[in-house]
Amino acid sequence: MKHTQTIIVLDFGAQYSQLIARRVREAKVYSRILPFTASAEEIRKLNPNGIIFSGGPASVNTAESPRPDPELFSLGIPILGICYGLQVMTVMQGGSVTRPDRREYGFAKLKHTDDSDLLTGMHENRQVWMSHGDSVDGLPDGFKVTASSENCPAAAIEHTGRQLYGVQFHPEVAHTEEGQTLIRNFVLTICRCVPDWDMGSFVDQAAAEIRAKVGSRTVLCGLSGGVDSSVAAALIHKAVGDQLVCVFVNNGLLRKGEADLVLQVFRESFHIRLQYAEAEDEFLQNLKGITEPETKRKIIGKIFIDIFEKEARSLGQVDFLAQGTLYPDVIESISPSGGPSATIKSHHNVGGLPEDLRFELIEPLKELFKDEVRLLGRELGLPDEIINRHPFPGPGLGIRCIGEVTRERLDTLREVDAIFIEEIRKAGLYGEIWQALTCLLPVKSVGVQGDERTYEEVCSLRAVTSEDAMTADWYRFPPEVLQAAANRICNEVERVNRVLYDVTSKPPGTVEWE
Ligand code: XMP
Repeated sequence: MKHTQTIIVLDFGAQYSQLIARRVREAKVYSRILPFTASAEEIRKLNPNGIIFSGGPASVNTAESPRPDPELFSLGIPILGICYGLQVMTVMQGGSVTRPDRREYGFAKLKHTDDSDLLTGMHENRQVWMSHGDSVDGLPDGFKVTASSENCPAAAIEHTGRQLYGVQFHPEVAHTEEGQTLIRNFVLTICRCVPDWDMGSFVDQAAAEIRAKVGSRTVLCGLSGGVDSSVAAALIHKAVGDQLVCVFVNNGLLRKGEADLVLQVFRESFHIRLQYAEAEDEFLQNLKGITEPETKRKIIGKIFIDIFEKEARSLGQVDFLAQGTLYPDVIESISPSGGPSATIKSHHNVGGLPEDLRFELIEPLKELFKDEVRLLGRELGLPDEIINRHPFPGPGLGIRCIGEVTRERLDTLREVDAIFIEEIRKAGLYGEIWQALTCLLPVKSVGVQGDERTYEEVCSLRAVTSEDAMTADWYRFPPEVLQAAANRICNEVERVNRVLYDVTSKPPGTVEWE
């Protein structure tokens, strides 16, 4: 698919390159990320309307600092340099950059010092986000400063005639108020792009790329029922039809109605080839007597791989493995801190497959953010129930059934969970909540129902708000919603006589109990 309008984001190793590309997409223009090593010739062939140099961790004054092809400056295409991108542009155009005594990290306020098309509509004294060690201290010939901040005299510079622009702050991050105004100014006014790109264009383009890569070969996709794998499967199916085979493993640890929903959507509505592996018994046998959380997780992960492998082998020749990796997963998996994402990864990428079953990966969503994936899912016709669902962990109810995981306890938990979610939906709060879950606790309590003494299971309800699951806050329900859920649970679920609400934020608690 050909784009009449393209902005190239040249990546200098910034954690924000994808975010820049995303902001350009928000301005309804197609954007493509290339490594900083891309040659001017290669870029010229793509006929872009503009180029954005990303930030990056290097200092431009070191010998090994990354440099773009100098010919880029002679293509006559507008360039915007952000942070490191500004500095590398400055130095390559004959200016200089120095390292002040202390790095600037955090909010700054912008003061306009000259007229600029780039800054039109950005108000003075609004916050911009700075994060840099080096600063521009000598302007290249023909450049002028258009904005400064208290600690950064050259916060925005430009050579108007040659359409070269640079900013020291990060317009792409949400902390920069009116950052999107700057991106739009660059893309729409300076590069003269017409804002006509949308998710429909993404589908056409991604499908064409998948077709070109796959040819007449076969793609395998592990379907979990979650948003990401569902959207990846629907997109790949659109591209290559029956060359896609999905495998859905029912581990018996799913929510009520989950397996049926997946079968109905993917087999009946989308007519996707779906191999359904009924593996509840195998998971339950292996989980017998296990109560330690990490052991549970490892067992569930291992059995999943075993079954997935068996299913994959039964398909004969398979060339590609599709994964619904999103851009935030990519960042998290390379984050030095490891953190909870390490757990997510170890379960989700099918990295445990044996040597002779290695596939080439297809990750059609890896440049997208979660909300973009949801838009894409809608564009592909997936139902709301799949697109807008809360995250659900790979080990499923296995890590919410605290203590031993048995069929009976899982059935109880499924009922409790279904009621809680139903009450949240009924109150119209589902969309406000990042994730709602229930746990069955390994304690029993005394109650009274009718005139009878009972001695039954205890469950806890949890709902959190969050941006990215790295931190989370407990959700403040109107009391009547909790009351309705608790009443129904005690009345309708035979083995439960007590309901708790979890008011722990993350940190110190994690979202899941195990
Ligand atoms: P925690 O409990 O670490 O969870 O605060 C953060 C987010 O990750 C989800 N989660 C998982 N997702 N496989 C997954 O796909 C896993 O093993 C896993 N463990 C936790 C959790 O539901 C929450 O959204």
